[in-house]
Amino acid sequence: MIDNSTLVLFGARGNLAKVKLIPGLFHLDEAGKLPKNMKILSVGRQEVEEADWHADIKKMLDEKFKTYDKRVFDRFIKRNLYHANLPDDPEAFIKFSKRLADKVIFPQNLAFFLSVRPSDFALIVKQLSAVGLLNESESWRRVLIEKPFGTCFKTAIELQNSIEEHLKEHQIYRIDHYLGKFSLQNIMTTRFKNALLEPLWSNEHIEQIQITNHETLGVGDRTVFYEATGALRDMIQSHLLQMLALVTMEQPKTMDPEDVRLEKIKLLESIEAIPMDKIKNFAFRGQYAAGDINGEKVKGYLDEVENQDSVVETYAAIKLFINNSRWSKVPIYLRTAKRLYENSTSITIKFKNYENWLTINIQPNENTSFEITTLQPGLDMDKNRQTILKGNNRIEGDETIDAYEALMLDLLSGDQSKFLHINEVKAAWKLVDPIIEYWGNDKSKPTQYKPGEFDPEESKIIFEDESQFWKK
Ligand code: BG6
Repeated sequence: MIDNSTLVLFGARGNLAKVKLIPGLFHLDEAGKLPKNMKILSVGRQEVEEADWHADIKKMLDEKFKTYDKRVFDRFIKRNLYHANLPDDPEAFIKFSKRLADKVIFPQNLAFFLSVRPSDFALIVKQLSAVGLLNESESWRRVLIEKPFGTCFKTAIELQNSIEEHLKEHQIYRIDHYLGKFSLQNIMTTRFKNALLEPLWSNEHIEQIQITNHETLGVGDRTVFYEATGALRDMIQSHLLQMLALVTMEQPKTMDPEDVRLEKIKLLESIEAIPMDKIKNFAFRGQYAAGDINGEKVKGYLDEVENQDSVVETYAAIKLFINNSRWSKVPIYLRTAKRLYENSTSITIKFKNYENWLTINIQPNENTSFEITTLQPGLDMDKNRQTILKGNNRIEGDETIDAYEALMLDLLSGDQSKFLHINEVKAAWKLVDPIIEYWGNDKSKPTQYKPGEFDPEESKIIFEDESQFWKK
């Protein structure tokens, strides 16, 4: 159940708010999930008249939804207010706290959603604390921090140290929006509630695991962000390692946030660090070249970022091993790319000594499929073929809740299970840091791959043996 509260959106004029947060909140309002008096206070750097802000919201909704209910719209607009506030101006925060102190307008349980530049996270927390807005003596105060939490192990610790001067762990919501996806939560159900799977879930029966996220889009207008980030930090450090944790962790004692996070932490901390002298065979990077995708001519990455010397990867594949008795010696391959042949996020598992693959499709398809070997009908009694058993994880009429909607509800209801504990963040950076360092020092040109095609051949360098291949 959600307490009456005020959601304060820092960075409300940014792209995430426009595309996901405001439309997501509207959808939640429409579904009757928001408390009657809940308020949404959007905060941006520029001065904007409230009426203009309401017109902006209308535009966002028009762009997102074909139609919507006028009565819900009127109710939603009444919840929405705007405040201009510069993150580095202490005086502005005094004014801001005075405005928020009006109990008639603003319920005093405050959730701050920081969808701002990462360099402003610590600063805003400090400013909120200085004016007493993080003090929980009378009502709860929570802070949601967008991704990325740090840019490496060292900066993640620095950020943590500075925010924990003002916040307790139960007040900090570190987001990884993949955890808000239904299909990721469903991984636990698939594993733990099926007689066919749970007994087979170990190195005794499993040969390898592949975790994939491919996109057809390029980096778009996020060139500055991407040049500073790259695919390894952008996707593998966060979303892909979370998928890996859910697929391989031990069963939590209960589904309470502490128990679920404890198992994920244990798992992430038991992944073996890749030794520097082995990175060449454990990690591969590439960049998309110019070409055609879905009938459209597209630029190559180097032209988009206007830096022919950039070695930032738009394709990354790595191999990891887990150092525990259940998983020892099972290679786990993680790969992610922009501008590949299809949009698809999946987990594929190959069983030992058999041609059986299990696939958990995360998106856009949401299903679980299992390839079984059967005898091909006919006179030839030795001809086999693979057939697919497929179960849809979503059927017509099911509720569709966007990941951000689910996570905003959790923020407002105080459920941290789908948010990251600092130890998960630390373990993830520890794993990718050596690769970042190695790639940063290696100025040789990354493999160029053609848009719209399958994984570059050269990426196979990370496979354990030549019979292995990327599962489609
Ligand atoms: C974001 C990355 O975290 O996730 C993007 O910064 C990526 O580069 C996106 O495209 C993918 O999210 P989704 O929900 O569309 O799979």
